[in-house]
Amino acid sequence: MRSGKTFLLLLTIVLLTAACSSPAKQSGEREMEVFIEELISKMTLEEKVGQMTLFAGHMDQTGAMVRADFEEDIQLGQVGAIFNVYGEKNIRKLQEMAVNNTRLRIPLLFGLDVIHGYRTIFPVPLAEAASWDPEMIEKSARVAAQEASAEGLNWTFAPMTDISRDPRWGRIVEGAGEDPFLASLIARARVRGFQGEDLRDATTIAACVKHFAAYGAPQAGREYHSVDMSERMLREVYLPPYKAAVDEGALTVMTAFNDLNGIPATASRFLLTDILRNEWGFKGFVVTDYTSILELIPHGVASGELDASEISVKAGVDMDMQAGYFQSALAHLVKLGAVDEMTIDEAVRRILRVKYQLGLFEDPFRYCSPEREQNDVMTPENLEAAREMARKSMVLLKNENDLLPLSKSIKTIAVIGPLADSQKDMLGSWAATGDWTKAVTLLEGLKAKYPETTIIYSMGCTIDGDSKALFAEAVSAAKRSDVVILALGEAAWMSGEAASRTDLGLPGVQQELAEEIHKTGKPAAVVLLNGRPLTISWLNDNIPAILEAWFPGTMGGHAVADVLAGDYNPSGKLPVTFPRNAGQIPIFYSARNTGRPFNPDSKYTSHYLDSPNDPLYVFGYGLSYTSFEYGEIKLSQDKFTGSENIEITINVSNMGKFDGEEVVQLYLHDPLASVARPVRELKAFRKLLIPSGQSREVTFNLSADDLAFYRLDMTFGPEKGEYRVFVGGNSLADKAVSFWFE
Ligand code: GLC
Repeated sequence: MRSGKTFLLLLTIVLLTAACSSPAKQSGEREMEVFIEELISKMTLEEKVGQMTLFAGHMDQTGAMVRADFEEDIQLGQVGAIFNVYGEKNIRKLQEMAVNNTRLRIPLLFGLDVIHGYRTIFPVPLAEAASWDPEMIEKSARVAAQEASAEGLNWTFAPMTDISRDPRWGRIVEGAGEDPFLASLIARARVRGFQGEDLRDATTIAACVKHFAAYGAPQAGREYHSVDMSERMLREVYLPPYKAAVDEGALTVMTAFNDLNGIPATASRFLLTDILRNEWGFKGFVVTDYTSILELIPHGVASGELDASEISVKAGVDMDMQAGYFQSALAHLVKLGAVDEMTIDEAVRRILRVKYQLGLFEDPFRYCSPEREQNDVMTPENLEAAREMARKSMVLLKNENDLLPLSKSIKTIAVIGPLADSQKDMLGSWAATGDWTKAVTLLEGLKAKYPETTIIYSMGCTIDGDSKALFAEAVSAAKRSDVVILALGEAAWMSGEAASRTDLGLPGVQQELAEEIHKTGKPAAVVLLNGRPLTISWLNDNIPAILEAWFPGTMGGHAVADVLAGDYNPSGKLPVTFPRNAGQIPIFYSARNTGRPFNPDSKYTSHYLDSPNDPLYVFGYGLSYTSFEYGEIKLSQDKFTGSENIEITINVSNMGKFDGEEVVQLYLHDPLASVARPVRELKAFRKLLIPSGQSREVTFNLSADDLAFYRLDMTFGPEKGEYRVFVGGNSLADKAVSFWFE
């Protein structure tokens, strides 16, 4: 009976494949499908369920694998993938168990959170997003994939593409900020970087889009908390970056911990099947986040292991990370008739396809190369790439009287603050196997950059302690200097997972330290090392220069020094709004106008009694050591129809003495539509170098697709009428024209 079904299925697959790809690709896909069906037809139910099981390994400080209790499961063919194990020897050992000691010799996947680098650590993802440089971000992911695969890994749990507009949430550090257009381009770049052009290339690894979906909008910014939002907001703002990654070919998707409108993502057929499979055509497999299936019980939607397993597999989950529920319950559910074995077969098919596409059946040890492990990690090229990415990710927030860059002939620099020489914090959260002892601190970077200058260092205080015992030493250092570099911010552990904060000010007594240094009257520049927007109004009001350096990675200290010395002209732009205070959150540039937009002359309009409406720094903001002047916007025509594009051109001039890169941003507003539309939405940008004294003409093309939104009836598309275009160097862009779409 089963072979008859299999044959029919095979025939369908062969015909379907033939219909939608090139001859070469068709035959490759046909071969894959035949191979997989053949293999599935031999598998026992227990072996099938084994493929749907992912367990975590543990490594000790020396990089040796701690004996894992899943080794027996591997030998029984009851595990499909392992994560948190790395190193060629460790992976070879487990892979040998899987392919030499099991009945069907199915190779394992080996995953890890390679989020912003593997051993060479790049700036945290939010920092990379501030570069507005998808090409450089792709390069960063490429280097990470090369290094991870050199140590045996073939799967990363990245890119994290959760939109977030709430800096109280610690994982805002891991994403690309608040805007779906920018975040979607970055999601694509990261998938391309990880998966490369050819998945059979042993330097490429499978990507994993996470956390599906809308994990970045937890109630009150509190980690793992519930998410509630309209379907319009979900589809317009939070889903696009996941879809972009899926469209770019990401092989896997990870479910989010949170419930969305009361339905946990891991139990959501709406997300995992209706949207991901039926609307988007996702062909890879869905893995849960850590023990998410088990968490359906505290979510209150499952009564126990059997219930949780049945709900999640029917919703569209293919692989169970670390709960072990699929391994122990699914076969039983099939025997009870509660779950159809065809559902299991489809999950296994998806998982085996990924293994096949990675070439693991051809050569299960293709990722195990002692030579690559020896030669391909933390190479000078990789370190230089990390330094370049860090330079490009920094955002100059303030530079009164051009205090920066600091002249190379400066006599004495005081480097003060708890982040000035903290190797542990340079890498930020999710630093994979990055070795913090190899991180270059800001102090080290400045000493290397200013060899003739006297550099006086004082920690001043700890990051979050309340002792002011070192203030006197710090003030004395400041008084003996020509300029002070104040390195302030967060500890790496203060952002990332399970790191929500309600107070976004500088932790500990750092603010008081800054005030004491300010009292000396010495010119000072603050370098912020942090993983989220901070509420730094006092710094903004009192300190002449502020450079947002985020957690800049292994080469961070050199990169900060490159910028402070003017060897690189900062070009970063904020991918997320900086609020004045936590009370304003959620605050983001693409809000709607309301029926009572703020009017200072009228009490009964949208405002606060105790705070301005506007943020401290807006989305897309960032200064340069030079200045850019924008000409008038020119349109190819002032009206266009659905079959045309409209060309938007503007001249940008570099008015200063430094060559500099500018991110020219184009925003759109639809002032009259069937639903209230955001006052601005980013629709295009161009980052380009403009030499000092020169101008460049920048041209954008908009089509009807760029005007599309979820209309009153929730259909997606444009509406006829007037549109306003804004072009400038941040989301307050004031050069504006209108055009008509007919
Ligand atoms: C964590 C994270 C997820 C990560 C997984 C494996 O809890 O939520 O992003 O990929 O577990 O480490």
